[in-house]
Amino acid sequence: MDSLSAALSSVKGSAARYPLLVTLMALFVTKRLWRLKLRRSRTLPRGQERVLVVGASSGIGRAIAHEYAAAGALVCIVGRRENELKVVAEECANRLPKAAAVGSSDRRDRLLALPGDFCKAEDMLAVRDSLEEKWGGVDTLIICAGVSALRPLLEVAGLEKVGGVFVPPKVDASGVQRTVAAANAAMQGNYIGPLVCAVTFIPFLSATSRAPAILLVSSLAAVVPAPTRSLYTSSKASSLLLYQSLAIEHPSIAFSYIIPATVEGDFRASAVDGGLVREADPNRHGLKRTVVAKRCIDMIDHGEKAAFMPAWYGRVGHFGYWLAPSIIEWLAGRKYNFAAK
Ligand SMILES: NC(=O)c1ccc[n+]([C@@H]2O[C@H](COP(=O)([O-])OP(=O)(O)OC[C@H]3O[C@@H](n4cnc5c(N)ncnc54)[C@H](OP(=O)(O)O)[C@@H]3O)[C@@H](O)[C@H]2O)c1
Repeated sequence: MDSLSAALSSVKGSAARYPLLVTLMALFVTKRLWRLKLRRSRTLPRGQERVLVVGASSGIGRAIAHEYAAAGALVCIVGRRENELKVVAEECANRLPKAAAVGSSDRRDRLLALPGDFCKAEDMLAVRDSLEEKWGGVDTLIICAGVSALRPLLEVAGLEKVGGVFVPPKVDASGVQRTVAAANAAMQGNYIGPLVCAVTFIPFLSATSRAPAILLVSSLAAVVPAPTRSLYTSSKASSLLLYQSLAIEHPSIAFSYIIPATVEGDFRASAVDGGLVREADPNRHGLKRTVVAKRCIDMIDHGEKAAFMPAWYGRVGHFGYWLAPSIIEWLAGRKYNFAAK
């Protein structure tokens, strides 16, 4: 009793002397306890979790599918390239836990590979109907699919800046049309696809899951402007705000958004405008796909709404832009090796 009151009075003494430090520590401990309390596996064990990964034939989505399969969840992978999907399905099958309870026919049903384009309503409705038939529903939707865009907008239109003036000096109709076509492709791949998925799967998740969750793989480019990336940044920003707004409209679903900086892989090959990669090699400097995948799963498990990766880098870019935009603009120009002429 004596030692308890001594400890309490020492805490009181510290709180009086260092109020800010003690408040921060209390907030940290509360946040940790809250994370533990919110752990989704308490209501939905991993072995029962039905996970749909859209955009899983390569990259981050593929790594997420590997992680869930290894942990024993039911995994459905979607993408347009059927051959790549088959390879990923095989990789997932090799990672399934070898628990005796999982028989061979059971194992097959725990893994679905469904080819489809997430911009096409009929493809996503077919995915939903297959999931209904095979699993009776879905608990976790992860949207990884997306496309890149790499060129300055006026370059897409066919104009180049030489000595501060455009060559040719005016854009023609075909230049405008090319730009609109590239913008449409970026919006299809980064906005319409996520929108089709939202409309198709939100009612399905709501009706069939006791702990529905959706994670959108966004990008730092959705919140920090970047030269040579205007089509990518604006189309990724659209889907981020779409999902952030949907989270308010559907509070019974746990929404998460991961906001990574550059990630290793071939994402830039999907560029809708066919531009050159100007930044440092993503495969040497980018985040590791498995690290991003693990972070996505951790966010979903703890109902964490938003996370930058790397955390400090994203926060500096995001908040720094509002505090000192010209510094962030200069840094973005350096990152993408771009100097306005
Ligand atoms: N890589 C980076 O540096 C980086 C950084 C921040 C954020 N991100 C975001 O991370 C996400 C994944 O990128 P990643 O690096 O994993 O790229 P990735 O390897 O190119 O993977 C993209 C995936 O999306 C699928 N996909 C694209 N369009 C699709 C469509 N219309 N319908 C269905 N699936 C489609 C692709 O499959 P199919 O081609 O088979 O359809 C592929 O599986 C993207 O949303 C990207 O914006 C990437």
